[in-house]
Amino acid sequence: MIHEKNKKLLKVYIHTFGCQMNEADSELIAASFKKRNFEITQDLKEADAAVLNTCTVRQLAEDKAISMIGRLRKWKKLKPSRKIIVAGCAVEKLGNKSILRKFPFVNLTIGAKSINKFDAALNDIIGKATKPKLLTETNLFNSPITAYITVMRGCSLKCSYCIVPSVRGEAKDIAPDKIIKEVKMKIKNGARELVLLGQTVNSYSSIYKGERINFTDLLEIISKIEGVKRIRFMSPHPLFFKESFFKLFKQNTKIARHIHLPAQSGSDRILKLMKRGYTKKRYLDIIGALRKADKDTSVSTDFIVGYPGETEKDFNETLKLAKEGKFSFAFCFKYSPRMEKDCKREDLIPKEILKKRLDILLETIKLNSKEIFNSRIGKIEEVLIEDKNYGRSSANFKVKINKLFKPGELQKARIVKNEKNTLHGKAVI
Ligand code: SAH
Ligand code: SF4
Ligand code: F3S
Repeated sequence: MIHEKNKKLLKVYIHTFGCQMNEADSELIAASFKKRNFEITQDLKEADAAVLNTCTVRQLAEDKAISMIGRLRKWKKLKPSRKIIVAGCAVEKLGNKSILRKFPFVNLTIGAKSINKFDAALNDIIGKATKPKLLTETNLFNSPITAYITVMRGCSLKCSYCIVPSVRGEAKDIAPDKIIKEVKMKIKNGARELVLLGQTVNSYSSIYKGERINFTDLLEIISKIEGVKRIRFMSPHPLFFKESFFKLFKQNTKIARHIHLPAQSGSDRILKLMKRGYTKKRYLDIIGALRKADKDTSVSTDFIVGYPGETEKDFNETLKLAKEGKFSFAFCFKYSPRMEKDCKREDLIPKEILKKRLDILLETIKLNSKEIFNSRIGKIEEVLIEDKNYGRSSANFKVKINKLFKPGELQKARIVKNEKNTLHGKAVI
């Protein structure tokens, strides 16, 4: 016992590439380390173990992860007892063997589909857990008041450009009881805002108390849990919006007034080639319905430029949507070939044109976004305080208020100015 107490606390450095789903997985990874007497460090130099949780959604994401594994070679040489673990989507794509062959100093590889086996895998290279699990699973990487909750894993759609279904597997919804338990635990640990995660999060469907429930039902159930002040979710897909959702959205203001709804393209021809299953009109109808339910709803999106065969006309349709959508921001990506079968070489858009289109789109988004930010001046935003006078509004704007509050408090503020994409407001009593 005395020996246990005096045992030196070890440190693990965890680097997450890619999306929130990977970040949520990194929390599970961190929990497994905490159970084994490790604490989390942001400083690689002082770490005894390093975990890279990798992404492969675009070539660049994969390249970054791979080059970081390479850089760990020296780090391990300095102290050979150090452990290196490579996890996530790039492991799933490239294969365990190929990573271990290329980087023989890596101690463990574990793909995104096997994250549930992570804890057991650690037994072999780190040792058995010494602490119970419940105490250690907490909101580790986010603001302490925000918690990620994975409600579905994988994806069963087959967007032509996308590697996610092949590295994360078919969609699998997590049982409501398990979700509720996790929510309660994270609320107990201080969370006030939840982000429900899934690649097509609004396709959620499961059985609760003997009955089938959908995503709207899940939102309603979660919003009633004590201590939940706000719910966000990522990413909904245009295919799965139902009337019942818009109704709940209107009446239940715990559901954040912000939706991240990836559009990918504004050209119906390209959307069809991408196998997205909706048209630009349907997309605009959905965000129209959200803004009808609450006119101050903010919308953000993702765009891919230069999908194989994209013409100037197609691209101009995307530019048009970028304006019509009134997006508060948008992540814009150059098309990156992932599946060989997907791209005929002759249809690939030349690099210079990709760059030109990306630059034009980014500029359009920037101008529009500035307008959207400025349009909040004079409005009242409901801010969930993260630290002192700072927090995020329901519509997902960063807001600074003229007074100090406690983290986790909800406070209304009237916006007086927009400074570098942070809104400044006066507390409304
Ligand atoms: N499930 C979400 C998106 C997940 S991937 C949805 O369906 O909307 C996150 C984003 O990466 C996508 O929205 C897309 O814009 C981008 N992306 C995915 N594959 C890509 C590729 N091959 N090239 C460029 N961008 C890509
Ligand atoms: Fe990829 Fe499409 Fe699934 Fe999103 S919905 S993860 S883009 S296949
Ligand atoms: Fe996410 Fe990248 Fe995997 S975007 S699902 S971490 S491929």
